[in-house]
Amino acid sequence: MDSLIIRTPDDFHVHLRDGGMLGAVAVFTARQFGRAIVMPNLEPPVITTEQALDYKSRIAAALPAGSAFVPLMTSYLTEDSDSDDIERGFVEGVLTACKLYPAGATTNSSRGVREIEKVYPVLAVMERIGMPLLIHGEVTDPEIDIFDREAVFIERILTKLIAAFPALKIVLEHITTSDGVGFIEASGGNIAATITPHHLEFNRNAMFQGGFRPHFYCLPIAKRESHRLAVRRAATSGSAKFFLGTDSAPHRQGAKESACGCAGVFNAPCALESYAKTFEEENALHHLEAFASVSGATFYGLPLNEGTITLERSGCDIPFTYGEGADAVVPFHAGETLAWKLIS
Ligand code: DOR
Ligand code: ZN
Repeated sequence: MDSLIIRTPDDFHVHLRDGGMLGAVAVFTARQFGRAIVMPNLEPPVITTEQALDYKSRIAAALPAGSAFVPLMTSYLTEDSDSDDIERGFVEGVLTACKLYPAGATTNSSRGVREIEKVYPVLAVMERIGMPLLIHGEVTDPEIDIFDREAVFIERILTKLIAAFPALKIVLEHITTSDGVGFIEASGGNIAATITPHHLEFNRNAMFQGGFRPHFYCLPIAKRESHRLAVRRAATSGSAKFFLGTDSAPHRQGAKESACGCAGVFNAPCALESYAKTFEEENALHHLEAFASVSGATFYGLPLNEGTITLERSGCDIPFTYGEGADAVVPFHAGETLAWKLIS
């Protein structure tokens, strides 16, 4: 098979940033995807409906005129979030979901949630109106080993949260462990997970191959090989509970290659090519469309995209960097050639 035509896919987890970075990266996501769930962890964060509307128009302004790409906006949950505003934003179609960041878990998460019970009133409203809660599922307790933070979050926080709000729609974002996979498989139809291309492709060794490699550092951190294999099985299984979310998270090269480097993999330029690589290696290219274009939209209650995209086995060359000088960003698969290439 040398070409693959699938329904236009969506990215259910992306960081488009703001300002100059937004201008530099949004086109890559818009070229690959019909819609994307845009994460709200800006500085300051996107919390209110009005802030989400403003951000949405900045995204539109960053794209070529006439772009058909639809950004789906999210609200960053804080302990002071206004449930009336969130309900209004959702009912009016401005907000698609709320994102829960445990405070300190990742980039720009200091305004996130410290005591989960403080957002229970907002979660009650979200459960009632059918608004999805998107979770960065890691505990931040410094006593907990960084490689255990996802499993401990599931055990300590998520189980309790689901017991309190059994009908709440939840997406456990960017799962990285067999614990995450098992938990999602055992949960009801209102609970699903996104999976990134990078967590499918490398394990924690990649960060330390012959020296420290900051471009493989992301959060949740890549785990050991047995976990990667569990996540690959889940993604390529055809199960509707696992769907595409790139977590493309660009940072300037200097901010990654630093004494205290930022977490994130910029995979937007080659996201579909990367997923196609994994699905082909697992003999599961026939499940790529469900993962990329059907299961996520169905979970969110969105209509499926009408168009199609075409991937061709003609080789996709990835540059070493995008942008120049201080603005350079190193992409996933920098300097490599991937077999599949998105041609339209
Ligand atoms: O690696 C990551 N980068 N993980 C996240 O959860 C956030 C993201 C970012 O915004 O930089
Ligand atoms: Zn993210």
